[in-house]
Amino acid sequence: MLEIRRLRAGYGRATVLFDLDLVLNAGEVTVLLGRNGAGKSTTLKSVMGLVQPTSGEIVFEGKRIDSLAPYRIARLGLGYVPEERRIFTDLTVDQNLEVGRRPPRPDVPEWTADRVFSLFPHLAAARSRAAARLSGGEQKMLAISRTLMGNPSVLLLDEPSEGLAPLIVEHMARTIIELKRTGLAVLLCEQNLRFARRVADRAYVIETGQVRYGGTLAGLEADSTLRGGYLSI
Ligand SMILES: Nc1ncnc2c1ncn2[C@@H]1O[C@H](COP(=O)(O)OP(=O)(O)OP(=O)(O)O)[C@@H](O)[C@H]1O
Ligand SMILES: [Mg+2]
Repeated sequence: MLEIRRLRAGYGRATVLFDLDLVLNAGEVTVLLGRNGAGKSTTLKSVMGLVQPTSGEIVFEGKRIDSLAPYRIARLGLGYVPEERRIFTDLTVDQNLEVGRRPPRPDVPEWTADRVFSLFPHLAAARSRAAARLSGGEQKMLAISRTLMGNPSVLLLDEPSEGLAPLIVEHMARTIIELKRTGLAVLLCEQNLRFARRVADRAYVIETGQVRYGGTLAGLEADSTLRGGYLSI
C-alpha cells in the first residue's frame, strides 16, 4: 500500500535518513522502533511531504508521492498525527472534529463525531469543552480523532503511547487494534516495545537513519543483539 524505496532525507545539509526501505501493507499495523534521534519522526514527515527527500521514492497505491505538497498527500488518504498534538486549543472538541472533516472515501464507512466518540468515550463527555482544558491523554485522543474525521486509509502516528498513564496506554493499544479492524493501515513510531508488541504485526528498527531490522516482532525479540543494541528496553 505504501512503499519507501532508498529514501534519503534530512534537514538542510544534514542527512538523517540513508537509503531507507520500508513497506506498509494494507490492513496492517507496522511499527518503527529506534532510539532518540534515529530518524523515526523524519520518516513519517517525509511520507507526508513535510521533509523533502533528496533521493529515493515514496509510492502510495502505485503512485509516486515524494514530490507532492503535504496537503495533496493528505488528500490521497494519508492521515498524520504528529508527536506534538496539533489541535486547536481555543476550539471545543466538537469544533476540532469539524475542522478535520473531509469527504468520505468510496465503499468505506464515513467517520462521524459519534463514531469517534464510540472509539474514545472519554471525549464524548467533553465534547463542548475547550481542547485546552483536556488532559494530555485526551488531547492525544482528540488529535487522532480529528485525523480520522479526514477519512484516511493510512494512519501515521508519532509515538501514540508517549506520556500517557498506563490505563490510557492500554486504551490506546485497544483503539489501534480496533482501527486496524476497520481496514486502516497504521504506521507508528514507538519507543515502548511492550506497546509495539501489543499492537503491531511487523516492526522496523531504525538506527542512524538506516533500517537494522524489518520483520515480525517475534523475530525481533529473538535477536538479542538488536534488542540490546538498538532499543532502549
Ligand atoms: N527540524 C529539524 N532540523 C534539524 N534537525 C532535525 C530536525 N528534526 C530532527 N532533526 C534531527 O534529525 C535526527 C532524527 O530526528 P527524528 O526526530 O527523526 O528522530 P526520532 O527517531 O523521531 O527521535 P525521537 O525518539 O527523539 O522522537 C536527529 O538527529 C535530530 O536532531
Ligand atoms: Mg520522533
